[in-house]
Amino acid sequence: MAYIIDGKRISGEIKDEVREQVEALKKQGREITLAVIQVGKDPASTVYVGNKKKACEYVGIRSLAYELPEETTEKELLEKVKELNQDGQVDGILVQLPLPAHICENRIIEAISPKKDVDGFHPQSVGALSIGKEGFVSCTPAGVLMLLKRSGIEIEGKECVVMGRSNIVGKPMAMLLLRENGTVTVCHSRTQNLKEIAKRADILVVAVGKPKFVTEEYVKPGACVIDVGIHRNENNKLCGDVDFERVEPVAGAITPVPGGVGPMTIAMLMYNCLWAAKRENE
Ligand code: GUN
Repeated sequence: MAYIIDGKRISGEIKDEVREQVEALKKQGREITLAVIQVGKDPASTVYVGNKKKACEYVGIRSLAYELPEETTEKELLEKVKELNQDGQVDGILVQLPLPAHICENRIIEAISPKKDVDGFHPQSVGALSIGKEGFVSCTPAGVLMLLKRSGIEIEGKECVVMGRSNIVGKPMAMLLLRENGTVTVCHSRTQNLKEIAKRADILVVAVGKPKFVTEEYVKPGACVIDVGIHRNENNKLCGDVDFERVEPVAGAITPVPGGVGPMTIAMLMYNCLWAAKRENE
């Protein structure tokens, strides 16, 4: 029987802590504002953006929503980002991904001021993380780290295996675990002996984007298993990259889907927005 890491509870605690600090800043006359840009009407993006707005309301951060049509050109989007960069009222800028195919995501990410990069996707933020400097950290891996810390799971000296090497999750996750003095291995779709490597892990972070990919054959007894995936199965039920029913009996600790990593991403976005404002005040 594994310890179930309750992301819903921990994300609630973080949002409450942010809310308190947002309120304190408000009393000093300092309001925090997040600008969220969505281009087109991708249904999943609409749900995510809606959840971000709700979280802003809960913690007391003002959110500005820019819903731009699918036909928006790269130039127009760059103009909007520039305008928000220069707007002294705006603390954080988030451009929801994916963008339509005719817009270069990297060009847009690089246009966001690193001071307002609450997603932590700007090369300057990524670089800062890799050399141990202060900067915004991508919300999902930051949320995973927070789950581990608040669940009392030790990282220092432990074998950490990250499955997945995306810019948003896998790579920054590896950097964070390294910063915490873990011994980190990153696996990906071309990795040979994936099961053997995964089975070495004391902490296994799974972000492969394949439903129920990780079974008990990938998990060392007693390991902590963090599931970053989210999918809908045939019955419209949510499931992760980890086959929970099969892995839970062997794991020492495990995150469920839903209610594990998912709610942490938005909580960390709120945390990053607060941090953007505090940093600007300094
Ligand atoms: N699309 C899926 N996840 C994210 C995220 O964390 N930030 C942004 N901007 N877009 C996303």
